Amino acid sequence: MKKALNILAAVSLLSMASPVFADALSGEQLYKNPGRGGCINCHGEGGNVPVIPLYPKIGGQTEMYLFNQMMDYKNGKRKNGLYMTMETAMKPFSEEEVRAVAKYLAEGEWPIK
Ligand code: HEC
Repeated sequence: MKKALNILAAVSLLSMASPVFADALSGEQLYKNPGRGGCINCHGEGGNVPVIPLYPKIGGQTEMYLFNQMMDYKNGKRKNGLYMTMETAMKPFSEEEVRAVAKYLAEGEWPIK
């Protein structure tokens, strides 16, 4: 009986744990999450309202381009201009998360026509 209860407890623990994995943050949540690089604090709403003109507009850029730039920062392969903040911001992101953020930003409208 005790063993059965232990198994039951283990199974219920597992089923409690699984939503944590299913609950990956969306690209938009990652972009806006202050604990995940604080992207919006520098690049602004939708990626196109930078807090200072020196920061690039990134909303509406193509998904592949954004993904590649972010992976390059993450992997220490893009070292130009002001790369340091971006290298730091992207380091804790998984490839899946970078993909999600790139997809979210690419859905926006490119500001320059
Ligand atoms: C402290 C301000 C700051 C924060 C926070 C920040 N960025 Fe940046 N971001 C920059 C700057 C400055 C650049 C230009 C860096 C360079 O010269 O390579 C940049 C560049 C980029 C680029 C490349 C743009 C291009 O045209 O090649 C992308 C994509 C990007 N950021 C996405 C993000 C995402 C996603 C986050 C959140 C995880 C984030 N940034 C957080 C300041 C910031």
